[in-house]
Amino acid sequence: MSSESDLVIEPLNRHHKKAAFLCGTETLDRYLKRQAGQDMKRRISRVFVAHPREDEARVLGFYTLSAISIDLSALPEKVAKKLPRHPVPAALIGRLAVDLSAQEIGIGKMLLADAIKRTLAVSDDIAIYAMAVDAINEQAESFYERYGFARLAHDGGRLFLPLRSL
Ligand SMILES: CC(C)(COP(=O)(O)OP(=O)(O)OC[C@H]1O[C@@H](n2cnc3c(N)ncnc32)[C@H](O)[C@@H]1OP(=O)(O)O)[C@@H](O)C(=O)NCCC(=O)NCCS
Repeated sequence: MSSESDLVIEPLNRHHKKAAFLCGTETLDRYLKRQAGQDMKRRISRVFVAHPREDEARVLGFYTLSAISIDLSALPEKVAKKLPRHPVPAALIGRLAVDLSAQEIGIGKMLLADAIKRTLAVSDDIAIYAMAVDAINEQAESFYERYGFARLAHDGGRLFLPLRSL
């Protein structure tokens, strides 16, 4: 993908061909094929899909976005001590994946940037303290760490990035 303008990122719809998607992590492929549509309908997650501008059916990548709260005890002490004594609101990228045919050409980075842009756009109206991500394994974790995400304590592979720092 040479530039952002060659790629469209939009909410999952019935024109996207989910069945052909393969990212190398089976649980993520299965999620897109079997669960994503239901999650959208029930308003559990918003699912966004990337496709080439000239081919709406071809799913090159996807991510999910939903609202969560982060317990103060999961944040590093120096961050937590500046916050009120209750859970803080965050936007969670629960899943993010790029098709094997299109990895390492910048689509993962564009999906992440798109999720952050959408979150910033609503955060003037609904307070959101941080972006959070669930990394499925160590490789995914190091992908997110490149962009400044840091691990939350006792929360599995969940990482966070305060929106203020963006
Ligand atoms: C991890 C994943 C989303 C990365 O997507 P991608 O489109 O291949 O990544 P990009 O081409 O946008 O890479 C952006 C940058 O991250 C780096 N990067 C890519 N994968 C990385 C990884 N696993 N660890 C560390 N850095 C990584 C790239 O080298 C690139 O660096 P640069 O900007 O200095 O050139 C993709 O490999 C994938 O879908 N993997 C399987 C599913 C998965 O692990 N999802 C993660 C979240 S659950």
